[in-house]
Amino acid sequence: MQYIDVAGMRVSRVAFGCSAIGGHDYGKVDDADSLRAISAACASGITLFDTADIYGLGHSEQILAKGLGGYRNKVVVATKFGVCWDKISRSTYKDIRPVYLRTALKKSLKNLKLDCIPLYQVHWPDNITPLDDVLEELDKCRTAGLVRAFGLSNFNPIEHGPSISRNKAASIQLPYSLIDGAKRELLEYAASKLGLATLIYNVLAHGYLSGKYTRESVFSGTDLRTRDNSFVKGDKVLNWRAVDIVKQIALDTGLTPAQVVISWTLRQPFVGSVIIGAKTEVQVQQNAIAADINLDRAACQALGDVVALLRRQDT
Ligand SMILES: NC(=O)c1ccc[n+]([C@@H]2O[C@H](COP(=O)([O-])OP(=O)(O)OC[C@H]3O[C@@H](n4cnc5c(N)ncnc54)[C@H](OP(=O)(O)O)[C@@H]3O)[C@@H](O)[C@H]2O)c1
Repeated sequence: MQYIDVAGMRVSRVAFGCSAIGGHDYGKVDDADSLRAISAACASGITLFDTADIYGLGHSEQILAKGLGGYRNKVVVATKFGVCWDKISRSTYKDIRPVYLRTALKKSLKNLKLDCIPLYQVHWPDNITPLDDVLEELDKCRTAGLVRAFGLSNFNPIEHGPSISRNKAASIQLPYSLIDGAKRELLEYAASKLGLATLIYNVLAHGYLSGKYTRESVFSGTDLRTRDNSFVKGDKVLNWRAVDIVKQIALDTGLTPAQVVISWTLRQPFVGSVIIGAKTEVQVQQNAIAADINLDRAACQALGDVVALLRRQDT
């Protein structure tokens, strides 16, 4: 495993994403599988566990606390606040006001069975609350010992650069993958100009880049992939071409497609850690190993070519 430093904490470059184990967004999950996956992550050297209060409406945080057990004070638990659930309309809304932050923080500390959250993140902008107000409140929480460090997720680091620097945020979370480079410039800016640790999600494109899905794959229930058009629309055929290339490289190298993708992503200079949403211990073990894989020149060239092709399509 490789590690980066985030506010003095030793953070693994492959992190465990805890959205799926919330039991809502990635189809049915068995808590027993989730607990085994968390143990496997600890045994594999993973030290960053990313969750949010909204994942399974607290279930993800609770199952993470259970799975980590006494280990939970030895790893970096990162959670998020700011996406809320409205019971009446059965839909989400955003709220990052300082007063709500305090309520959410109290709940997450309880769910996670922690006295201090190592990395507390603002999940999404609410487009009302000034970022300075939120970050100043987070700084007070840090002074009070309730959080060790704080970060942002889904914010534009260029737009908010001065506020981020002034208030000493530690990290930023944005999506990036082989087939989706839309946030690349933002990540480069965040890493090189603001010195933020970049934590990347959507690396496996919701599992499609793991190579096990086809054009015919069907998802059901609350699985977010029922609403995911990134692979099914006619103009996205290049995404399937990318999957085919990844699968071929995996066959040639004896790796899994997910390992090829994770390893390639970790080579990108603006990538700090990748947050991979695993559901089973086998997935976690395979993902963790990817941090130590060096793809050969031919594989990197083939993947670079497909990225260039996709970029040309997008411009
Ligand atoms: N900040 C934000 O707004 C935000 C948004 C989304 C996610 N995230 C974070 O990022 C994490 C990852 O979520 P994501 O949306 O980016 O998903 P992802 O990591 O691109 O894909 C996750 C899915 O890929 C499949 N998978 C994982 N490892 C695999 C392996 N080794 N082999 C085969 N399949 C594998 C699993 O689903 P199946 O087995 O069902 O295929 C898993 O649910 C989340 O848990 C969360 O912590 C943050």
